[in-house]
Amino acid sequence: MMTPMAMPPETVSRDGVTLRLEELVEPRPPIDVPALRYRIEVAGQAVGELRVRLGDTEDLQRHFGQIGYEVYPAFRGHGHATTACRLGLAVMHDLGYGEIWITCNPDNKASRRVCEKVGGVLAETVDIPAGHVMYQHGIRQKCRYRVSV
Ligand SMILES: CC(C)(COP(=O)(O)OP(=O)(O)OC[C@H]1O[C@@H](n2cnc3c(N)ncnc32)[C@H](O)[C@@H]1OP(=O)(O)O)[C@@H](O)C(=O)NCCC(=O)NCCS
Repeated sequence: MMTPMAMPPETVSRDGVTLRLEELVEPRPPIDVPALRYRIEVAGQAVGELRVRLGDTEDLQRHFGQIGYEVYPAFRGHGHATTACRLGLAVMHDLGYGEIWITCNPDNKASRRVCEKVGGVLAETVDIPAGHVMYQHGIRQKCRYRVSV
């Protein structure tokens, strides 16, 4: 859980990758929890985006995941998502979380590998309930990785 006094860092860096806080996202459907939207930077260039979702609702932990990331196609395959995810986990640690969930589609091999590389343990693969917004977007299952932060 986020502790009442915890403030998110504006920037965090390691191994040549920086997360720079771009926006405090207000809760809104469908995820309905506040989020920290960080730009992923390498050598001053934006290479992707990472969201730290602040909450522990069942829908978040089971379907959406508490960290989400994207590396733009031109910058993939250099370990940036892995490093950015490690930084996101450090942010969550400093905010008072001890364990979080990251989810990905079963066929998303790159994202599953990122989860494994940051120490995630595949707990289960769950079916997306019919009627869920993800189901409406054609997503039928999510792999759930438990990650110690
Ligand atoms: C998933 C994503 C963030 C990975 O970004 P990235 O910066 O290329 O990831 P990394 O370089 O850190 O690579 C992570 C691992 O995935 C592996 N990988 C990459 N593409 C792969 C593929 N198509 N199949 C299998 N493994 C793959 C890499 O080899 C690496 O593992 P290794 O170190 O053991 O070799 C990127 O592909 C992306 O933005 N995809 C679209 C958005 C998305 O799917 N986000 C995640 C939602 S859950």
